[in-house]
Amino acid sequence: MLILGSPEELDKRLGIKNRLTFRTAGDGLVVAEVDNPHASASICLQGGHVTAWQPKPAALPVVWLSRLAKFAPGKSIRGGAPVCWPWFGPHATEAGFPSHGYARTVPWAVTQAVSLADDATQITLELINSDQTRALWNHPGKLTLEVTVGQTLKLTLTTGNLGDDAFVISEALHTYLQVGDIARTRVLGLESCEFVDKTGPAGGLRRRQEGPLTFTAETDRIYVNTTADCVLEDPQLARRIRIAKSGSRSTVVWTPWAEKAGKMGDFGPDGWREMVCVESANVLENAVTIPGHGSHSMSVEYSLEN
Ligand code: BG6
Repeated sequence: MLILGSPEELDKRLGIKNRLTFRTAGDGLVVAEVDNPHASASICLQGGHVTAWQPKPAALPVVWLSRLAKFAPGKSIRGGAPVCWPWFGPHATEAGFPSHGYARTVPWAVTQAVSLADDATQITLELINSDQTRALWNHPGKLTLEVTVGQTLKLTLTTGNLGDDAFVISEALHTYLQVGDIARTRVLGLESCEFVDKTGPAGGLRRRQEGPLTFTAETDRIYVNTTADCVLEDPQLARRIRIAKSGSRSTVVWTPWAEKAGKMGDFGPDGWREMVCVESANVLENAVTIPGHGSHSMSVEYSLEN
């Protein structure tokens, strides 16, 4: 059941003492705040968007949020873990449709919140279908996100097909991760993978990754046919972030660098230096066909390794 209401009403129905509360942020968006023995986290109900996660021993967040991020109705939030669904990037045929689908900018509702036996906090959200969403994607789909906040952060995005006919989706959990200095950061786990480089000519160039991925300029790559864990090595903060996934066959890596970030306007002067997106996805030839009355789940688990 979709549970709707003001932060006060949500607190009464779903709040968990010393674990979970609801508040209003920015221009009236509702945010669930989790604070448990393992970690703190924030989840904005618009977009089913995790905007923060910091395990308790960590000095800095693991999930990055821009200092200039705007919390406004219908706008995407710069940072956190945007849900890109039911398409990734520009729409295949409709130039006026939003980039990365609509899931990240429409209201979702909480359906359940529980404290687990190990003291992790689990919140389940569901996208609210409406005339606005059906005008963009007219299929009987149900999208849920289960967020488990503990020593690790686990996100499970499930697409249900409630109709008789199959449909195809592409998707990404477009997570922004906090790093000390992008120029000193490496991503391990994509060695030898084929990728589409989106910084080149339209449509992208297909190439193969040689060795660990390092950063010296804008990077925008879709790695296909990979189910491997990635590890983000961050010598500046003396830590590694492991990204383990299932139900995902693509990994997107994006960082805008100075010029592009400057044009985007919501990164702040040096925000681009302290983030990189490692996105667990199903894109291009890895798009997923969901048969009538079937479902598909994609999960990703982030953990900090010192
Ligand atoms: C990445 C894409 O996933 O998201 C990039 O590969 C895009 O091409 C980036 O620029 C940010 O997108 P947006 O819509 O959140 O600004």
